[in-house]
Amino acid sequence: MAGDSEKNPGWFDLDHVWLPYAQMKTARPPLPVVATEGSRITLADGRELIDGVASWWTASHGYNHPHVRQAVEQQLRRMPHVMFGGLTHEGALTLARRLAALLPGDLERVFFSDSGSVAVEVALKMAVQYWINRGVKGRTQFVGFKGGYHGDTTGAMAVSDAEEGMHALFAGWLPQQYILDLPDDDAKTAALADVLRSRADSIAGIIVEPLVQGAGGMKFHDGLVLKRLRTLADKYDVLLIFDEVFTGFGRTGSMFACEAGGVVPDIITLSKALTGGTLPLAATVARRKIFDAFWSDDSGKALMHGPTFMANALACAAANASLDLFECEPRLQQIAAIASALGQSLAPCRGMRGVKDVRVQGAIGVVEMQRIGNLDALRARFVEEGVFVRPFGNIVYLTPAFTISADELKTLTDAVVKVVQSLIT
Ligand SMILES: Cc1ncc(COP(=O)(O)O)c(C=O)c1O
Repeated sequence: MAGDSEKNPGWFDLDHVWLPYAQMKTARPPLPVVATEGSRITLADGRELIDGVASWWTASHGYNHPHVRQAVEQQLRRMPHVMFGGLTHEGALTLARRLAALLPGDLERVFFSDSGSVAVEVALKMAVQYWINRGVKGRTQFVGFKGGYHGDTTGAMAVSDAEEGMHALFAGWLPQQYILDLPDDDAKTAALADVLRSRADSIAGIIVEPLVQGAGGMKFHDGLVLKRLRTLADKYDVLLIFDEVFTGFGRTGSMFACEAGGVVPDIITLSKALTGGTLPLAATVARRKIFDAFWSDDSGKALMHGPTFMANALACAAANASLDLFECEPRLQQIAAIASALGQSLAPCRGMRGVKDVRVQGAIGVVEMQRIGNLDALRARFVEEGVFVRPFGNIVYLTPAFTISADELKTLTDAVVKVVQSLIT
């Protein structure tokens, strides 16, 4: 991977960094960024790109929102971080209380960590120990779903679809789980029920990304699927975990995707937009019955987990400020407007040769191609159009900031239509 030395700044040297999801020998170099503001990314050479991805789906209020920035700056002056073992602080307790109030049902006990993958690991560990603490032996496996992606750590990879989750290489290393079809019709519901009926004594829980399977291909399902999962989990007495790392905080059109099915999972994981895309933070939130199984005079029943930077004070300040914005700015209306604009503006792609599907859910717009030959070249085409869009697999998608202006959104969708059209002509 070599930089373009004429355009790149003096600090641009990739000799000592290992980049994500990239064959570094052949991949195009990443774009050097010097500033962000709203929905715009400024490159070192002065070009400005309109961001269609919101930094891996995190920057829900746009970059540098003054309210979030001010909260972080104030916190930085007072106390950037303090360990959460034996010490605590107002930002974390306030955030836990606010999350519990926002989430449905009795999802009320918040465990903080620092990334979506770790939030998933904590959820899996909680689920396994829930059964151990209740004296039930052998419940160590999970049901996950084809097309599912839950992160890149070991446990999270094991419950993801091996192909879509990008870890097929490690099949021999990862613990075997049940990766099944989502129950979106009667036959698949019966197949899932069969596994649960015959194996429930070895299964701790079911884990799913509600409504939208993101990194596994931006595949959508409806609230009925979530209802079926709840019904089956109750019937066969296994826990239900919703991984809302991507879908949480408005992305699918409601504050949490679980609201669409009216379903309360036993454990929910949150991250990405939790801090409005400013700092790493994640939460694994459990229902009362889960926490009750750990509440004991027996120290052996405690949850033995504690990431060093858990509940980082700067990140909690950012998250509280982000929640303020959801309360006082019209985010859900903005998301509805984005959904409608995405639906209208991406429609011309429907029916184009090579386009398999066009779909929109909340502030997620997807053009699914039959195949994409050269992803790197396609990504570069978008930059030529003045936008940052990052297709993967056979998917071109937009997940803009909820605060994006109508003009900026139009620039993004025009670029998608133009680039997709150019692929097939
Ligand atoms: C649904 C879901 N779960 C978990 C993760 C992992 O989060 P992180 O990359 O913060 O570890 C992701 C990341 O894309 C995700 O989309």
